[in-house]
Amino acid sequence: MTDLRGKIAIVTGSGNGIGRATVKKIAESGAKVTVSDVIVEDGERTVAEIKAAGGEAIFVQADISQESQVKNLIDTTVSTYGGLDILVNNAGVGGGQLRTHEIELEDFMRIMAINVGGTFLCTKYALPHFLKQRDGRIVNIASTYGLIGAPKAAAYCASKGAIINYTRQLTVDYAPDGIRINAICPGYIDTSLGRRRATLAPGELEAAIARREKAAGMQPIGRQAQPIEVANVAAFLVSDDASFMTGSIVTVDGGCVTTFNYGEASN
Ligand SMILES: NC(=O)c1ccc[n+]([C@@H]2O[C@H](COP(=O)([O-])OP(=O)(O)OC[C@H]3O[C@@H](n4cnc5c(N)ncnc54)[C@H](O)[C@@H]3O)[C@@H](O)[C@H]2O)c1
Repeated sequence: MTDLRGKIAIVTGSGNGIGRATVKKIAESGAKVTVSDVIVEDGERTVAEIKAAGGEAIFVQADISQESQVKNLIDTTVSTYGGLDILVNNAGVGGGQLRTHEIELEDFMRIMAINVGGTFLCTKYALPHFLKQRDGRIVNIASTYGLIGAPKAAAYCASKGAIINYTRQLTVDYAPDGIRINAICPGYIDTSLGRRRATLAPGELEAAIARREKAAGMQPIGRQAQPIEVANVAAFLVSDDASFMTGSIVTVDGGCVTTFNYGEASN
């Protein structure tokens, strides 16, 4: 079992989905946790679930694209618990079904500001604490869409590709200081992300969900994952069991990027 006793952790976007499963797993492994999200009621529900299971948790509302809110997230965690050991940069948004010539600059930049800028800001304000203690563990939640080109996902693919190489770059700068940074590339995970696409007109939602289930069914493992299947890997990566892992880009995707789906009669 993953042992995170004595550790202090922040998971962004942990009111729902992968973040929620991850913060619960980290708390269950013994760490004191900060649940953070833009949506207060979702974050508070996660805190209540952790406390009901005997864990220690606080909620701090933060939009990760806003510097003052990120600073407050880190400061509140450190002043409440007396330190910080673990950061999971999970919060992120999808980009809608758009090709480059169809996206307004403002919308493209909004996705980059949350997915990439938010990862940068949380990391920037966590690092001084990690540097002081010469220990820190970061997991960035990227995506298989950062490894491949996916149709009509221009902004999302650009943002997740950036997170992957940023993970490698951070490794070069901070491995000598005892700080480990890894990324997870989830494949199709059954969360609300796909269901919250603001750009979808009413009635298109069902079609989007059906498209997603069909795409997941075509992957080698043939299904979507549950959020806990990503959370288990994130908890491992921030634990001492992964002590020689840094700069790793770990796919948790049911084999998604191992192959192109040729269909049955391709050879
Ligand atoms: N679900 C998938 O199939 C999948 C696949 C690959 C990668 N991912 C990545 O996993 C991460 C989590 O996605 P999920 O599927 O659990 O989504 P989700 O929508 O279920 O949960 C995301 C959470 O992040 C919060 N959030 C959104 N914008 C925020 C902001 N600016 N600041 C703080 N919190 C914010 C939301 O309120 C929500 O609670 C994302 O980075 C996503 O890109 C998901």
